[in-house]
Order: sequence, then C-alpha cells, then structure tokens
Amino acid sequence: MKNLLSAADLDRDEAIAILDTAARMHAIQTREVKKLPPLRGRTVVNLFFEDSTRTRSSFEIAGKWLSADVINVSAKGSSVSKGESLRDTALTVAAMGVDALVVRHHASGAVHRLASWVDCHVVNAGDGTHEHPTQALLDAYTLRERIKEFADRHVVIVGDITHSRVARSNVLLLNTLGARVTLVAPPTLMPSGVASWPCATSWDLNETLSGKSHGDVDAVMMLRVQRERMSGGYFPTEREYAISYGLSPARLDLLGDDVPILHPGPMNRGLEISSAAADSARSLILNQVQAGVSVRMAVLYRLLAGAEEVTV
Ligand code: CP
Repeated sequence: MKNLLSAADLDRDEAIAILDTAARMHAIQTREVKKLPPLRGRTVVNLFFEDSTRTRSSFEIAGKWLSADVINVSAKGSSVSKGESLRDTALTVAAMGVDALVVRHHASGAVHRLASWVDCHVVNAGDGTHEHPTQALLDAYTLRERIKEFADRHVVIVGDITHSRVARSNVLLLNTLGARVTLVAPPTLMPSGVASWPCATSWDLNETLSGKSHGDVDAVMMLRVQRERMSGGYFPTEREYAISYGLSPARLDLLGDDVPILHPGPMNRGLEISSAAADSARSLILNQVQAGVSVRMAVLYRLLAGAEEVTV
C-alpha cells in the first residue's frame, strides 16, 4: 500500500491487518519508555490546512514513538498565508526528502490531488466533507475491542451526515468488515447521494435506537453538528435539533445497558450529545482517542516499514 486516501483503499484483509498491528502497538502506550525503532531515519510531515487536536497530535505521537522524525507544518504560519498554492506547498515540502505526508485539508478531494503530485507516501488525515480513513480505522479498533466481531453487527451513526467525512469512511470500512450501518439524520443533513451508499437510512432516532425500525443496535456513534460548514438553516434551532436528534439521558434508556457510545470529537455537549451520555460508563470516546495513537502507528508502520509483523 503506497497511500491511505480512502477507507475504500482497504480490503477486509488489509483492514484487519492494520487493526491487528495496532493491537500490538497498543502495548507500548502503558510502558515507561514509549519508543520502538522501526522508522528510525524516516521523516514524516504533518501538513495541516485545517485545525485539529486529535488527528495531528496522535500522528505526531505515533511517528515519534516509532522513532521517525516528525515535523508539523500548518497553513497558519506557513507560506500558504502568502498565497502559495497547494501544489507548490506540497512539492516544496516533499522536495526536502520527506518519506510520508499526513495531510488534512478543508477541500474535499484535495488530498487525492496532492498525492498525484508527490512521490512520497500520503495519508489522508481528513479532506473537507469527503473522507477520514484513519478515524474509521480507530473507530473500528475501538468497536472491535468491545463487540469482538463485525459480522452482522448493527452500528447506528447519528447526526450531521451531510458534512461528515467520518460518516462516509465509517460506512465504507464497517461495510468491508461485515457490519451493518444505519445513518440517522434530519432530511436536511442527509447527503443527496446517500441512496448509493452501502447502508440503511432513517429520520427517526427513537425508532432506530429502540430497534423497532432497523433491528437491535450494537453500537451508536454520534456526530458533531459542523456549524462552521453550515451557511443556511439546516434545522430550526439548536434546541429543536437536540430534542429530535441529540443523545439525551432519556434516549440512553432506549439502548441496551451494554451498547457502547462513540463520538469522533470534538463534541458539542448539549447539542448532539448530553454530558450524561458522553461521560457514562458505556462511552468509548476516550478509548477512541487512545486508539488513535495505536492505529496511526500501525498505518505509518505498514506504509513505511512494509507488511512484516512488528516486534513490540
Ligand atoms: N476526530 C477528529 O478528526 O478530530 P480533530 O479534528 O481534533 O483531529
């Protein structure tokens, strides 16, 4: 695998291999000395044109724990603010002898274009409303820890699907892994082409969570309402959205006690998710953050060091 641009780049064997490698990498997180040698002498640049807390810092930690040299370049403070184009920025950074570029961009498709201009490995760290494949991998890792098997498991993804790269990558990856996905959103936040996605859809959260309309639920993923990508009225008021689509304390009671709750973050507490849900014992939100480091170690390892089994 040269690049990881889309969850669709992964067949079942490759996805499982990354999750298995991540499980081995996970052991390092509890050690006093968090350092492995396989990427010694390799250079990874995190090239971020859009804000990030989780993705950028976990890629940085992942690269450093594998002994790579990791450099962060963000649009703010770079020559992008002087008008340099995406192509010139990518070619300039790549010309410095970089082995891998981890790229986030606010425009859908920008990371795919960038990958066609450079020779080094490229990882999509989130492009516009399109894809975020390492988020889907860390979500799958977190889910596998809890539900063990993907075959015939039912994952419900709720919220602002229209603007969510996480939803698209999760639908693709969970489908590859054999799980069943139902997307729940108001009509205005359901993407126009969703009928061609390999998943079911619903506008009724209560019916879906209770299992009445789409069968028993094995996991629920709440998505952030992406106010910064909204220009018009996608719902009447935030209060009405929270009432109809928020994971409130009352809605928690519709779910079985052991049904895990995920959220890719950052969260709008009180809008798509209540604090009662986010901080409950069934919440796996911090497990997702923790998995982000192991999964990104696995991705960097498999891109830069090959498919051989890692010694941890
Ligand atoms: N989930 C996620 O991509 O978070 P960041 O924007 O903080 O990286």
